[in-house]
Amino acid sequence: DGLYTVSLIEGDGIGPEISQSVKDIFAAAKAPIKWEPVDVTPQLRDGKTTIPAETIKSIEKNKVALKGPLATPIGKGHVSLNLTLRRTFNLFANVRPCRSIAGYKTPYDNVDTVLIRENTEGEYSGIEHVVVDGVVQSIKLITREASERVLRFAFQYAEDVGRLKVRAVHKATIMKMSDGLFLSTADRVAKDFPSVEFDAELLDNTCLKIVTDPSPYNDKVLVMPNLYGDILSDMCAGLIGGLGLTPSGNIGDECSIFEAVHGSAPDIAGKGLANPTALLLSSIMMLRHMELNDHATRIEKAIFDTLAEGKTLTGDLGGKSKTHEYAGAIIKRL
Ligand code: IPM
Ligand code: MN
Repeated sequence: DGLYTVSLIEGDGIGPEISQSVKDIFAAAKAPIKWEPVDVTPQLRDGKTTIPAETIKSIEKNKVALKGPLATPIGKGHVSLNLTLRRTFNLFANVRPCRSIAGYKTPYDNVDTVLIRENTEGEYSGIEHVVVDGVVQSIKLITREASERVLRFAFQYAEDVGRLKVRAVHKATIMKMSDGLFLSTADRVAKDFPSVEFDAELLDNTCLKIVTDPSPYNDKVLVMPNLYGDILSDMCAGLIGGLGLTPSGNIGDECSIFEAVHGSAPDIAGKGLANPTALLLSSIMMLRHMELNDHATRIEKAIFDTLAEGKTLTGDLGGKSKTHEYAGAIIKRL
């Protein structure tokens, strides 16, 4: 039927509402996508958090999934489903572009950063134990293999999109061994990409410089270990108006999952007030990943034009429109 099937994890809270906007807009744009809704209710198998076997099958078969927000328990309870998904499908690179939105005013104009985050290890390895009462050890695991994999991905990405400067962000002055390994691996990988300029910067310095003036980062791809990428990507999102506006893609060799990074917003769930932009822009990244570039560009333009016009914005952006009115305005432009 000429359609590509994509697994759809609608998510918790506002997830179903923002997923509906994506479905409506894709249908109106005649994007050749058939959605396969999947269930990610956490299950315990051999003492480990996992998701239903049919869901794993669906994502392995379709190779592409779109995911809304999933609530993450704090401190105790099951392992975050977000992390479970990244681990289950070995989604080793997390790509987080962040661009200013015309029509949404922040202290910064023309932010255009691309951050690539190692997505499987570091502090997220989940290896923690009590040494003695009152003393806890958490392992930050850095391997040459995972570092090399994400670094190669970042350099290849830089070549593919013609953004020919890669900068590794690290703290090897303190984490001499772990970040040192990441950095020396970066130096080595860089040699295989002679057309890409490579340098490195300390994380704290990156933070200081990027909030002072983001423009020097507009031609670079930043690549870094997991937790640094988690924090710095939220900071970049803050430069352009928050997590409601930024897309994200978890990329692996076999499958990829595109997701909104914001929370499930239980306070406004079910009220038709949520802003679907982050999930929409993630679905645009997904279309490009599937090489459906014409559809991606057309829908993306309709989204940006609607935001720039500013007449049908949701409450988080200072507007009064409901989710479906905003989606309707996008559809009108298609
Ligand atoms: C993100 C989120 C996740 C993370 C949470 C929800 C587990 O903050 O995707 O950035 O920490 O990676
Ligand atoms: Mn995060």
